[in-house]
Amino acid sequence: MLDERSELETLREIYYLTDGASGNWRKLLALGDCLDQQLKRKLLWMWPTSVDLDYFNQLLSMHNIHRILSIGCGSGLLEWLMTASGGRRVSMFGLEVDRKWWQSKYSVRSFIPLNYVEGASQLHTELLTSCCNDAPPCALLFCYFNNRGAFLEYLKVFRGKWLILIGPQPARGIHTDPNPVQPQLPEDQWTLRERLNWTDQNIVAFYEKIA
Ligand SMILES: C[S@@+](CC[C@H](N)C(=O)[O-])C[C@H]1O[C@@H](n2cnc3c(N)ncnc32)[C@H](O)[C@@H]1O
Repeated sequence: MLDERSELETLREIYYLTDGASGNWRKLLALGDCLDQQLKRKLLWMWPTSVDLDYFNQLLSMHNIHRILSIGCGSGLLEWLMTASGGRRVSMFGLEVDRKWWQSKYSVRSFIPLNYVEGASQLHTELLTSCCNDAPPCALLFCYFNNRGAFLEYLKVFRGKWLILIGPQPARGIHTDPNPVQPQLPEDQWTLRERLNWTDQNIVAFYEKIA
C-alpha cells in the first residue's frame, strides 16, 4: 500500500500526464501498470491497454459517435484516456452524484468536464442540454455502473441512439447493473451492435436504439 506522500507524488505525476499541454496517455498507461491496486481502483475500475483503446476508438469513428456523456464516470480518467488516445475527436462529458465528495480534498481531480445530478427532477435537463456544452450526447456510457433504478431513469430520458456499457464478464463474479453482456434492456428498443473483449476479462458492448 502506498503511503500518503507517495500517493500524492503519483497523483501529481498523473495530473501532469493528463495536462492539456504535456498530456501523454501512453506514459499514463505505463504508469498505471506500476500502481498500487488501491490507488488504481481509486482512479478507475478498469485500466485498458492501448490496443483496447484503439479498437474502441475505431468503433466510435465507424458509428460516428462524437459526443459522449459518461454516467457515474468517477474521476473520468478512463474517459480522458479514450479521448486522448483517439486524437481528441470525441467530446467527453461526465455526470456524477455526490458533488460534496468529488469537490472534497480527499477525492482525486476530475479529468473531464463534470456535472452533478442533484435530484431526479434535474435529470432531464442535465442529459439533454447542459452536460455537453448545450448539445445532446450521441451516446451514454456506463462503466462499472451499479444502480439499476437510476440506469433505467437515464435511459427513459435519453434521446440519442447509442449506449455503451463497460463491465466485467459475468464469469468474473463482479456484480454491475447493467452488466454489458446481460443488460436486460427495455425490450425491442436496443440491439447489440458491437462487442469488444478488453483486458482482464472486461467487455465493452455497443447497443443501438432501434425504436
Ligand atoms: C463503481 S463506480 C465506477 C466509476 C467509474 N465509471 C469507473 O469505471 O472507474 C460507480 C460510480 O457511479 C456513480 N453513481 C451511482 N449512482 C449514480 C447516479 N444515479 N447518477 C450518476 N452517477 C451515479 C457513483 O458515484 C460512482 O462514482
